[in-house]
Amino acid sequence: MCGIFAYLNYLTPKSRQEVLDLLVTGLKRLEYRGYDSTGVAIDSPDNKNIVMVKRTGKVKVLEEAIQEHFSGGDYSEPVLTHIGIAHTRWATHGVPCERNSHPHRSDEENGFVVVHNGIITNYNDVKTFLAKRGYEFESDTDTEVFAKLVHHLWKTHPTYSFRELVEQAILQVEGAFAIAVKSKHFPGECVASRRSSPLLVGIKTKTRLATDHIPILYGKDADSGKQQVLPRSESTSEFMPLEEKEVEYFFASDASAVIEHTNRVIYLEDDDVAAVRDGTLSIHRLKKSLDDPHAREITTLKMEIQQIMKGNYDYFMQKEIFEQPDSVVNTMRGRVRFDGNAIVLGGIKDYIPEIKRCRRLMLIGCGTSYHSAVATRQLLEELTELPVMVELASDFLDRNTPIFRDDVCFFISQSGETADTLMALRYCKQRGALIVGITNTVGSSICRESHCGVHINAGPEIGVASTKAYTSQFISLVMFALVMSEDRLSLQQRRLEILQALSKLADQIRAVLKLDSKVQELAQDLYQHKSLLIMGRGYNFATCLEGALKVKELTYMHSEGIMAGELKHGPLALVDDSMPVLMIVLRDPVYVKCMNALQQVTSRKGCPIIICEEGDEETQAFSSRHLEIPRTVDCLQGILTVIPMQLLSYHIAVLRGCDVDCPRNLAKSVTVE
Ligand code: F6R
Repeated sequence: MCGIFAYLNYLTPKSRQEVLDLLVTGLKRLEYRGYDSTGVAIDSPDNKNIVMVKRTGKVKVLEEAIQEHFSGGDYSEPVLTHIGIAHTRWATHGVPCERNSHPHRSDEENGFVVVHNGIITNYNDVKTFLAKRGYEFESDTDTEVFAKLVHHLWKTHPTYSFRELVEQAILQVEGAFAIAVKSKHFPGECVASRRSSPLLVGIKTKTRLATDHIPILYGKDADSGKQQVLPRSESTSEFMPLEEKEVEYFFASDASAVIEHTNRVIYLEDDDVAAVRDGTLSIHRLKKSLDDPHAREITTLKMEIQQIMKGNYDYFMQKEIFEQPDSVVNTMRGRVRFDGNAIVLGGIKDYIPEIKRCRRLMLIGCGTSYHSAVATRQLLEELTELPVMVELASDFLDRNTPIFRDDVCFFISQSGETADTLMALRYCKQRGALIVGITNTVGSSICRESHCGVHINAGPEIGVASTKAYTSQFISLVMFALVMSEDRLSLQQRRLEILQALSKLADQIRAVLKLDSKVQELAQDLYQHKSLLIMGRGYNFATCLEGALKVKELTYMHSEGIMAGELKHGPLALVDDSMPVLMIVLRDPVYVKCMNALQQVTSRKGCPIIICEEGDEETQAFSSRHLEIPRTVDCLQGILTVIPMQLLSYHIAVLRGCDVDCPRNLAKSVTVE
């Protein structure tokens, strides 16, 4: 959903070439957020102008264009202070083309240039306002109005500081944004802000930082309702957080873009305005309410750079599929004690008594995260004995679903930034429900806005198609079900069975991953087909939905996850000797029903690929093509059956020549509705 990256060095000599390299590397790390077009803006060698380079396509194309654009010029001279801003785009307003690529500018002189992630919903009104004042627009984007609005404010309020201009502009715009602004009128300064789109500031100094927080400065007149920005002289004194002056700042949509430079970051909150001037970072807010904090904490990231590199794999997605034996263990690490059959989820333990008293559990998410809710619903119903609703966040909001104070609402999201999920969270929070976040991204909006939660600890997921996050979300919800049933005597045997199965899971995933070459052969049979039906029921229905989603998004083939019980109510009409079908038939309580479906398919000349249990010759007899997976407890089967689906979609995508890590039209973090 667009990635923004900005860099500022203060008294730290860096050549323009180095700054450009930093910007390009930052964009490469954020490319999963959007890859329709890219662009950068830096100062010209004489510091009098801003130079922009933009291209349609991926960062690689921009990198070549930068080399071409700057060849011959003197970009090797060290500069003490410099600001570069950069962007990788996932188009929302205006087709992907150079004209619509960011940065966008305020005027022909590039007075103010802006990179933006999000959607300015009232951009038409702002555009009309500015057009009446003589502004002409050169793109179809919502972002351009922001650059021009800042310019208009600069002309009409000549005494305002750069930060005040941006602050005034964000008061006029509605919708979601993370922005970074650079100006030729304010050299050496950078201003950034966010509302509903993620943004963090990385801080790098030669020695340790002298503080672990940055005080927030509040506008004095803001509470009067006039939202008037104070003239500089009257505002609270600015804060110099550092003992020394040499410093580098990074503004980025997420931590993967800054981790190779620094592990010290501040996650900005909605409507924070972060400004760097004379090497000093300050964070301002116009309004202060009683419970607003006095400072923003400087967090130390735990992520390692190796975690976001591809290593020996061809694609991030492939790497992430093969990481699952480790990622599931990381999800359970420090939480599950197999010897004492005990589970502690530190992030929610204080809330368990309240959760046990609730009216119902609501599990809310989008896409793959929603599927993890579908996958674990049955176990949650069994072990909590509570009604469990699973909801797609967008539909949940469309329906204005009734929510009560004694509801417990789980928000499941890998990125922790998905707009639909975040809005559903705010909707439920407003109505007094307890909010539990299940996320993979520390410091994300969903993490911060939840009352409590479970961090799934799957490690950074870069491939746009979610894989290891799914299995870790799945396990997190299973662990929650186990915690909820700790004191139920009648459920102890069942809990024990699940705990034992969890202890074997990593090895069993390793065994499933060994099917890779067999799955690749199946992919050879399938990749030229137009469609693939995936059928199952019970604990494996979620695998059908998730498998079909993976096939669709990665291979652009049609695929459908079908509840086997529904086969005779319509989908059976699709089955003939040429329709590829994959069926999950495992030895669990729905085995006999799955066998009925299998027979219905084979008697229509269908020749399904069967996923069955190791050594189950009776089931294998129905087809020459099958994949055998190890036996596990019914409620964890979905983890083992989804892995062949991940591998299959991966191999089909490679055979069809699709870009595995960056499927067309998609982005990793969907921060717009
Ligand atoms: C599919 C996929 C998406 C995400 C969905 C929600 O492979 O990745 O369907 O699951 O966009 O994203 P998060 O989990 O970040 O809220």
